[in-house]
Amino acid sequence: MITAHLTSKGQVLELDDNTKVLRFHGVWLRDNAQDEDTRDPRNGQRLITLADLPEDCALSDTKVVDDRVQVTFAADSKTVSFRTDWLREHAYDVTHETAKGRLPDHAQSWNSALNSAIPTADLTQMQAGSAALKDWLGAMRRYGLAKVTGVPVSEGSLFDIVALFGFVRETNYGRLFEVRTEVSPVNLAYTGLGLQAHTDNPYRDPQPTVQVLACLENSATGGENMVVDGFAAAQRLRDEDPEGFELLTSYCARFSYTGSDGVALHSRRPMIELSPDGVLHALRFNARSSAPLVDVPFDKMPAYYAAYRRLSGIIDDPASEVQFKLAPGEAFVVDNTRVLHARKGYSGAGTRWLQGCYADRDGLLSTLAALEATP
Ligand code: FE2
Repeated sequence: MITAHLTSKGQVLELDDNTKVLRFHGVWLRDNAQDEDTRDPRNGQRLITLADLPEDCALSDTKVVDDRVQVTFAADSKTVSFRTDWLREHAYDVTHETAKGRLPDHAQSWNSALNSAIPTADLTQMQAGSAALKDWLGAMRRYGLAKVTGVPVSEGSLFDIVALFGFVRETNYGRLFEVRTEVSPVNLAYTGLGLQAHTDNPYRDPQPTVQVLACLENSATGGENMVVDGFAAAQRLRDEDPEGFELLTSYCARFSYTGSDGVALHSRRPMIELSPDGVLHALRFNARSSAPLVDVPFDKMPAYYAAYRRLSGIIDDPASEVQFKLAPGEAFVVDNTRVLHARKGYSGAGTRWLQGCYADRDGLLSTLAALEATP
């Protein structure tokens, strides 16, 4: 049995289900009214702005009718009703976590133990059925990493992967970029050198949020791919060196790329970015693209560098890394706001040819959420 009553001179609705009391402010209820004057019934979009709300959203009356709670506003006698389970789902009168460096909803951290269990799905199966796609997208949301097999060994076939969930994000590197040895590379990624694990393009704001790398040839010696969970690395830094974690989250780093004519990309963002309530939001880590740090106060710079070095060491720790060698027809996809990728050096013998492109994480999560909402 649910009861509803008003407190604080009508400014607050209290909903009591005998186990707990949930409070809602009049202004919040008015802004979130579900009636046709407030929300478009077709697309759910709000039809009003804050200026359309009464200055004072005090409530004058409330009652429970079946599974709904009805409230009346004093200023204009407008009455609206809410499903009680909708109010419960959207309750904000709850304990909010505040610990810094928490994982986002649905995310699960990982380390080298994931090596034998990288989520993988066949491209054709995902194209054919929503269940396989839903599982794979769910793995992307959980780990920020997943592989795809059965990708046609032909140029541009990586776009088939992006088409599963969204759109290519084109950059100055093109709609796709080739990753293979070049005689005079414009970017170190195009040489046979090994690369430290990094996130791509931190010099863009926003950075590309999804990266796809598909293998067309891989007979070279070496050239294995490595991936590292940046959120796990950030949490390890937080646990081992809380002050260092605080520094890397509190001050902006700088990143730049000016390696091609007509391109001068610069960004100013923290290496470890948290949401205002402390949830891990994004990691930017790329030694090649780091610009001089000028946003860290003079007296904090030595400690900042010590924390940066420590994070670098955690990222380089073999216990953090998952390693695999892609075969032609295989691809891997990473959440570039979270998962760092690297490759081992490879020799001139044989060939190694990958094609890469960027896409957007919001589209990926949208596709997943829409699939999950479909019965
Ligand atoms: Fe990269």
